[in-house]
Amino acid sequence: MQQQLVQQERMLAMGQMASGVAHDFNNALSPILGSAELLLEAPEMLDDRAELIDSLQIIRTSALDAANVVRRLRGFYRGGQAEEDVENINVNEVIESSINLTRPHWRVQAQAEGRAIDIDTHLEDVPTVTMNESELREVLTNLIMNAADAMPEGGTITFHTKTDGEMVAIELSDTGAGMTEEVRQRCLDPFFTTKGERGTGLGLAMVYGIIQRSHGTIDVASELDKGTTFTIRLPSEIHVPTDSQLPQDTESSDALRILAVDDDAATLRSLGRMLRALGHSVELAASGSEGLDKFRESKYDLVVTDRAMPDMNGDQLAEAIKELVSDQPVIMLTGLGNMMGTEEKPQGVDLVLGKPVTMDMLRQALLNIQPQEAI
Ligand SMILES: Nc1ncnc2c1ncn2[C@@H]1O[C@H](COP(=O)(O)OP(=O)(O)O)[C@@H](O)[C@H]1O
Ligand SMILES: [Mg+2]
Repeated sequence: MQQQLVQQERMLAMGQMASGVAHDFNNALSPILGSAELLLEAPEMLDDRAELIDSLQIIRTSALDAANVVRRLRGFYRGGQAEEDVENINVNEVIESSINLTRPHWRVQAQAEGRAIDIDTHLEDVPTVTMNESELREVLTNLIMNAADAMPEGGTITFHTKTDGEMVAIELSDTGAGMTEEVRQRCLDPFFTTKGERGTGLGLAMVYGIIQRSHGTIDVASELDKGTTFTIRLPSEIHVPTDSQLPQDTESSDALRILAVDDDAATLRSLGRMLRALGHSVELAASGSEGLDKFRESKYDLVVTDRAMPDMNGDQLAEAIKELVSDQPVIMLTGLGNMMGTEEKPQGVDLVLGKPVTMDMLRQALLNIQPQEAI
């Protein structure tokens, strides 16, 4: 009986988690889709280099955030936050990027409806906090979008940051509709919304979950028709080496001959481009069996293969390759590895990388691969 209850609770939590992931994943996709469509439909933007780079930065940041939203499922299965995902971050910078990413939501939409929303920032020089940067951005973008929703006539969102003992405090106020005491008490609950069809009630539930796991606190003060203030307190820095403090391997690897295998045409093309941009020559194969045929015909320094493919999957391809050349380096890309927390490598695979892969991940992975003697 007890067991059953625990199981039910787990299932409920899973359901909430999955809906929350879907909600925030779509939020992260919005700036990607918006920026890409803008560039395609207003080609004159392509001539403005600064504008173009800005759009590309937005696409990159949002895609990394989307990947992080999914990666959080792994933390959920395992319980708790994966250590490697936290870093020392500057909250003021994350506030600025969150404002930028949500600008289409609060500026364009508000202007179209004849109302104006301004964002003021009063950011003090605060110590860094130790948490995951994408997650903090997710918290802030959710709060900004709620504040904009609460100001149908327009208004001002104000950010304050300050040091508060051992904590860094982020205060976000709006001059919107405010909440009744009942709404204020329930607003963090999953699926609680006053927006009817337009709301999911998941934004603040995700916010609360993230803040809790980061050992922070969240307070809500609100006055009807005056506005709402969210105060988030996050523990300031404990020592975690940041990327820039880690020993950097700046040496670039030698040009390699690489066989890239993926059944998804767009993924394969972009993987090929990334590897070529890193200075390697790349042969593409659109299936496991095509990959094996190409491997039989030629010599490669490295095979990079997708895992889940119809007919011959990545595991089978890797095994078949190792049977032909026992010391052939093989890297496997997988969409599930991260999520399942399976660090175990399939036979015949030397390294597993979780999708989506970044240039940095590829660069690091290729550092250890040596080109073979020319044939
Ligand atoms: N800044 C705010 N001002 C007034 N009410 C708010 C504010 N932020 C959140 N709320 C209330 O909390 C509810 C839950 O918010 P949230 O979890 O983000 O879900 P949703 O935005 O989908 O309704 C909202 O429906 C709204 O009633
Ligand atoms: Mg919301």
